[in-house]
Amino acid sequence: MPKSSGSAMRKHNVVVIKGDGIGPELIDASLVVLNAVQQRLDAFHVDIDFRDGGAGLYQRDGHNLAPETLDAIKLADATMKGPVGLPEVRFLDGTEAGVLGGVLRTGLDTYANDRPVRLLPGVNAPIKAKPGEIDYIIVRENTEGMYLARGKGIGTDDAVADTMLITRKGTERVVRHAFELASARQGAPSDGMHRVTCVDKSNVLASMAFFRRVFDEIADQYPSIEREYLYSDAAAQALVMQPQHFDVLVMENFLGDMLSDLGGGTIGGVGLCPSGNIGDNHAYFEPIHGSAPSIAGLDKANPISQILTLALMLDHLGERAAGDIIRDSVSYALESGIIKLNELGQPTKGTQKAAEAIAAAVATSGLG
Ligand code: IPM
Ligand code: MN
Repeated sequence: MPKSSGSAMRKHNVVVIKGDGIGPELIDASLVVLNAVQQRLDAFHVDIDFRDGGAGLYQRDGHNLAPETLDAIKLADATMKGPVGLPEVRFLDGTEAGVLGGVLRTGLDTYANDRPVRLLPGVNAPIKAKPGEIDYIIVRENTEGMYLARGKGIGTDDAVADTMLITRKGTERVVRHAFELASARQGAPSDGMHRVTCVDKSNVLASMAFFRRVFDEIADQYPSIEREYLYSDAAAQALVMQPQHFDVLVMENFLGDMLSDLGGGTIGGVGLCPSGNIGDNHAYFEPIHGSAPSIAGLDKANPISQILTLALMLDHLGERAAGDIIRDSVSYALESGIIKLNELGQPTKGTQKAAEAIAAAVATSGLG
């Protein structure tokens, strides 16, 4: 096939951090798919700047991200990272030293954490539903809430306190982001309604009642989108019993952490779940799960979370066609049984073979 001239190629500068545990093999798998989609479309090229970050780096150098790396991330068009963190690598306060949320979420002010939950074909999910019937996005507030206490807990040998903070600015911007997402989507699978669900614990906590009040003020600006409220405990049940009802849900940071893993569980596991951390000036992309050190290097991990993460990043870079091809190829590989997942959600033929199967589907996509 003739190659288009270099000048017509769109270029994107991306920082990639392989991370800890299964991170490196997941990133390698996603890059096999990136190569395939670049060749398939022959219209853009991603220039990758590989950088170190996470628990392994902390053990070696005493920091989880070098200051120059943060500078590079700020200059890049986007960043993709694998999972980071190792349970035995901890700060003195007992929290994990390798996780990068403090530096990347708070530091880059990526205030909206978009966590799509979609039931894919061919997956043996614990919930009885057809592909397409579970398709919602959890928008997790990403810079405050309970996680504001990150690194700032105070206490003695007898008691420790973490403080949760909800601000007007923080709530306004993440709720607006949720309504904008809902405007651009197809609506909830059950009834096609464009709907944003505010998930909170406003029956008990003043901070959450405030979150709901600010939610309402923003919702007033989107009269064509249905607004709805659910307490977080009821939301946990509804996400299991009526997942078809949901379109976009917006919530405080810690609630979003928990309910996004719950959502992942309903569709066959967090090994299928990508995410994007989005701010006004920066964005970075990562699977929602951890680094699973017990299976690191064994070619067992499911690379689909990372591959769908790549697709989200390409959407963000304006390469929506590439993102769509990747998502369709993942679905095709699962539906046709080329990739099978075991009861732990791991691909039966291994990480690499799964990535190659998706790359092969990408290479032939749209060619009849
Ligand atoms: C996530 C993860 C992180 C979080 C961990 C690794 C600190 O669970 O992105 O959901 O709690 O935010
Ligand atoms: Mn989590």
